[in-house]
Amino acid sequence: MTVHIGAQPGDIAPTVLMPGDPYRARWAAETFLKDARLVNEVRGMLGYTGTWNGNPVTIHGSGMGMPSLSIYANELIRDYGAKTLIRVGSAGAMQDHVKIRDVVLAQTATTLSTPSAGIFRELNFAPCADFGLLAAAHRVAGDKGITTHVGNIYSSDVFYDERPDLTEIMTRHGVLCVEMEAAELYNVCARHGARALAVLTISDHLITHEALPSSERERSFGEMIEIALGAAFA
Ligand code: ADE
Repeated sequence: MTVHIGAQPGDIAPTVLMPGDPYRARWAAETFLKDARLVNEVRGMLGYTGTWNGNPVTIHGSGMGMPSLSIYANELIRDYGAKTLIRVGSAGAMQDHVKIRDVVLAQTATTLSTPSAGIFRELNFAPCADFGLLAAAHRVAGDKGITTHVGNIYSSDVFYDERPDLTEIMTRHGVLCVEMEAAELYNVCARHGARALAVLTISDHLITHEALPSSERERSFGEMIEIALGAAFA
């Protein structure tokens, strides 16, 4: 057991999918995994372990924002031996050609700051996805007829952003979308030799102000889980 995860040694699989929302973790485990069992519920952050196509998989919530994700990613890797960590979550589009429901594979993640800033100091470290996972996710999505955008995203510390100038700068530099966790997942995984990827569905649009209806959120979340599982075991 760790400070934030009540799982026993061996309860966490080498492959971990990380939605922000713990109830999404439960839904995904019950929907996609065989013999899923609850392995963590400390502070309501649910984690389940089961199998997918015979492969052991854990689906564990990350919470919202990089400080929360950092706690779980650190403990999953350092204390439980996780080797492949894939964020599955939602994002807000920052480009006209990126539409509601589209899937984005985050090749790299721009930030103002991350919990790793204290380590990197003056260094502008470039957090990036594991190329094998990224290429596999692109292939798996294509085989399912799901179009993906691959490129730079923005991992923000704020949902209610008061800096429209920043959004404009990022849009002008081709940043595809904004979310709140991927960059620190990539940092922590780089530090500890684990593979990382973020698979994101566009839930809202910063330019058109459209939003994905809540009735459709489950289906698009399911597609992300299928892409993530397919990529992890490709
Ligand atoms: N996740 C989904 N939409 C978002 C947004 N607009 N900003 C930050 N994170 C998000």
